[in-house]
Amino acid sequence: MQIKGKQWRTIWLEPNGSSIGVIDQRKLPHKLTSQIIYTYEEAATAIQNMIVRGAPLIGVTGAYGLMLSLQKDASDEALEKAFSKLLSTRPTAVNLGWALRRIRKLVKDLPREQRAEAAKKEAQAIAEEDVLMCEAIGEHGLKILQQISGCESYKDQKQPLNVLTHCNAGWLATVDWGTALAPIYKAHRAGMKIHVWVDETRPRNQGASLTSYELGCEGIPHTVIVDNAGGHLMQHGLVDLVIVGSDRTTKKGDVCNKIGTYLKALAAHDNSVPFYVALPSSTIDWEIVDALNEIPIETRSPSEILEIEGQLINGGMGKVRVCPYESRAFNPAFDVTPGRLITGLITERGVSTSNELALQKLFKHE
Ligand code: MRU
Repeated sequence: MQIKGKQWRTIWLEPNGSSIGVIDQRKLPHKLTSQIIYTYEEAATAIQNMIVRGAPLIGVTGAYGLMLSLQKDASDEALEKAFSKLLSTRPTAVNLGWALRRIRKLVKDLPREQRAEAAKKEAQAIAEEDVLMCEAIGEHGLKILQQISGCESYKDQKQPLNVLTHCNAGWLATVDWGTALAPIYKAHRAGMKIHVWVDETRPRNQGASLTSYELGCEGIPHTVIVDNAGGHLMQHGLVDLVIVGSDRTTKKGDVCNKIGTYLKALAAHDNSVPFYVALPSSTIDWEIVDALNEIPIETRSPSEILEIEGQLINGGMGKVRVCPYESRAFNPAFDVTPGRLITGLITERGVSTSNELALQKLFKHE
């Protein structure tokens, strides 16, 4: 994606091949800065502290983290230690375990001296595949947007198509393109008039800070709303469809995503607003059956609720306390939306109904 005329990805292998660069997402939208990561411990910290975030990007960072570890020590013991450390950073997004297991499986049977190089190639492959999957999601999602806008030609389009999204499932959450935002980028570039309602997404405000930043870079009209406004907008016919991302999708088509997604799906259902989830197949967990009881939901620090961080008038970053000092807070980071509330799953292979049979058919998973 372009930021002020420069092509960016969220993560890259540095030319020396033994460190990786990432955009520091904690500083956006106020500062665009990158950070260089040299060790797997630093990669783990970057995931845990949300310097990088978003399910697909967490997976790619984990893969590169394992590569960095193997470059220092390619023994089985070191591999297992780094694997466990990276895996423990964020429990909900399945892409992390998927990417780590993919690297581990590949290198396990190789002689030690070949492991680091093999891991590097595989991590790069995972990153490149992510870009291709997200772009394909964009193409499949574009067809849905065209269908819902109901216009043969964009010239006939009188009103912009109003899309509501939650959290950040754009290119900052992936390597490039994004999932939920990829169809929006495709539509805007094709000439469709489009407007995005951006849920601010408390407590960390990924919508207010990151989705709005991305859409602004691309010149896409958007309006930030408080998380509780979506239902009201839907009741008044101001939302044509909802598209969100996913951190883990079960084989039955239930979707775990940023906290608050479920409430949006309920409101969409009550108002007959189409509710789509965009996801690469790396986000499908083929093992889990019971989403509510089996998906580990990350509980984050209460401080994310009790305090708000932002840019101060003097330009520096700062935190302000919102709640009384004696108040406690509970901060589950994700929730589960049952497949019955989802109109369709937009994947790199096409659009699937959110049930086991349809997903099996699309991915022919044995
Ligand atoms: O806690 P975050 O910022 O990592 O949560 C991100 C989300 O919930 C996204 O919607 C999800 O990862 C899909 S991203 C393509």
